[in-house]
Amino acid sequence: MSISNENEFKGIMKVGQFVAKVRKAMMLYVESGMTTWELDQYARTFFENESVDSAPNKDYKFPGMTCISLNHEIAHGIPSQDKIMHNGDLINIDISAHLNGFYADTGISFYIGEEGGVKFANLCEAAVQSTLAGIKQARTGNPLRWIGRSINHTARGKGFKVIKNLAGHGTGRKLHEEPQVLNYEDKSERRVLNEGLVLAVESFVSNGSEYAYESSDNWTLITGDKSFAAQMEHTIIVTRKGPLIATL
Ligand code: CO
Ligand code: CO
Repeated sequence: MSISNENEFKGIMKVGQFVAKVRKAMMLYVESGMTTWELDQYARTFFENESVDSAPNKDYKFPGMTCISLNHEIAHGIPSQDKIMHNGDLINIDISAHLNGFYADTGISFYIGEEGGVKFANLCEAAVQSTLAGIKQARTGNPLRWIGRSINHTARGKGFKVIKNLAGHGTGRKLHEEPQVLNYEDKSERRVLNEGLVLAVESFVSNGSEYAYESSDNWTLITGDKSFAAQMEHTIIVTRKGPLIATL
């Protein structure tokens, strides 16, 4: 969607602040030995207490309130009582919500324990920096493809690759809207960013695979090899003065 009035602006900011709050709370709540199901149940309390819908659960019948992906899983991991998070693991949480007709989407990859830091600190930091570099391009009048160009340049500059078949997207009135926001520059992409456009910018930075593959549960996206990928996602509003991040 493109925001054209104060009511729409407030609606996006409100749902954006909600998903950001859940993202931060989940990150703090994680500890070694916890299952991804327990972490999702914790997130559920926020949705229920504030009467907010989980967007994937409501619109796509996703079997969980949030997506929680472990290690070689990149995205759309299903919370499970069989999946235990341990020191040294890479974790991605992705939270998207619907409130009063508006949607926002956020996600982050992080690790547990010092052992996790040794393996994944650089990868996770690269995802954060790549997403922020992409967001910086989100100014009215800039070509859409500049977002992907900056994401890719930043990831490569840090020695990583991007996943080519996962992308950010428009959001706001539905979880997923046009346009797609690729993690690289597509030279044939001619669209220009317009004032008020709401985008979910998400980088997927990898230390190996450039493609995500669907696993046998038909939800979880995996690297398909021994590599790892990290994501960072923010919902933003394009303005003349530059990007406004709704999910800080
Ligand atoms: Co997301
Ligand atoms: Co998204």
